[in-house]
Amino acid sequence: MRSADLLILGAAQVVTVDGGRATTKRGAREMNDLRVIEDGAIAVKRGRVADVGTTNEILQRWRGYQRLHCRGRAVLPGFVDAHTHPVFAKTRDDEFALRCRGADYEEILAAGGGIHASARALRSRSVSELARDVRTRFDGMLRHGTVAVEAKSGYGLTTASELASLKAIRSAAAKHPIHAVRTFLGAHVVPQEYAGNRKAYVDLVVEDMLPRVAKQKLAAFCDVFVEKGAFRVAEARRILRAAKRLGMRPKVHADQFRDSGGARLAAELRAASVEHVDATKRAGMRALAKARVVPVLLPSASLFTHLRHVPNARALIEEGCAVALATDFNPGTSPTENLQLVASLGCTLLGMTPEEVVTAITRNAAAACGLEDSHGRIAVGRPAHLVVLDAPSYVHIPYRMGTNLVHQVLVNGRVVVDEGRIVD
Ligand code: NIG
Ligand code: FE
Repeated sequence: MRSADLLILGAAQVVTVDGGRATTKRGAREMNDLRVIEDGAIAVKRGRVADVGTTNEILQRWRGYQRLHCRGRAVLPGFVDAHTHPVFAKTRDDEFALRCRGADYEEILAAGGGIHASARALRSRSVSELARDVRTRFDGMLRHGTVAVEAKSGYGLTTASELASLKAIRSAAAKHPIHAVRTFLGAHVVPQEYAGNRKAYVDLVVEDMLPRVAKQKLAAFCDVFVEKGAFRVAEARRILRAAKRLGMRPKVHADQFRDSGGARLAAELRAASVEHVDATKRAGMRALAKARVVPVLLPSASLFTHLRHVPNARALIEEGCAVALATDFNPGTSPTENLQLVASLGCTLLGMTPEEVVTAITRNAAAACGLEDSHGRIAVGRPAHLVVLDAPSYVHIPYRMGTNLVHQVLVNGRVVVDEGRIVD
């Protein structure tokens, strides 16, 4: 008998999302293989998973200082939200109300609203003010089972406010159970003061912002919004190549409203991930699969912008991609921090299976933001980041359509959410 710090016992399912040597699960066969243990149990020692098996097996092998009885609930890897914009100064409910009356997202942006409105509001805020709001948003994510998040800047669009946004993420995460991966998105749109001179803004991003972000180690990734009304492929290529030289990994917001070549650029640059891909054509999908770029699909944003396109998840999976799903949490196109809702939309809007959506918010999402070694699956030796669901099966995540089913969240083997509440 060995001794563990904690034994998690009697889970209706332990959904490990383990197996296979690759960091991701690619294509339909792998994405549907969740490696579920019925009547499962986990031994935790020093914050890590020491053993996984059936409750009987674990009780035979381990004695535990502490025991947590799941009483028929399902246990999954803590969720990873691979794409969020949590640093903003004000909500955009006004714009939402206009869109409900027929206004168009891209027209609002072109008229100086949208991302521009967010930038006007953010620039006057201090790091500590921004960090306070980000912390509150992280609390909301954690209560919904998210243990790691990719968080972007991109609502400042000046050197000072972009740096402040990244510092706010760092500060908010410092004493928070959520792990945050920072992405620099200074190239979100060309700010209004550069409207007549977009090249000068790209110069500013490349020559001023990026070197400072790198020097202060403020971001692991660099993202660019490639779209009509935002950046062109050639501009994005220049920015992302410069970022790569400074040690940041590229990501691309691509083909949200039309196929503008963003997905092909992501493949060309061997980006870690490509986001949205709502309007990407087959050739682009094939290039992504070949280059092993993880498509991060954001169906809540598609829904919230009135479903002009939805990503073709089935085709991406057929092509052999490792698809991930994320909330895109932001004030304009997706004001939800609920990954369970996104998983449900994965099934209902995108035609994915319950198994595929679980893989897409755990293992594949972890790989999309460079967390493949620490997050996204339950396996011996890995940190014990876990979600205990108030439901007997992972199928309830998409089935209950946005209901927060989280009963407990554990980070490094410690309970940080209990009965839906954050534990201090
Ligand atoms: O992912 N596409 C660009 N950026 C965000 C939304 C920006 C906004 O409207 O505030 C997105 O949808
Ligand atoms: Fe986004």
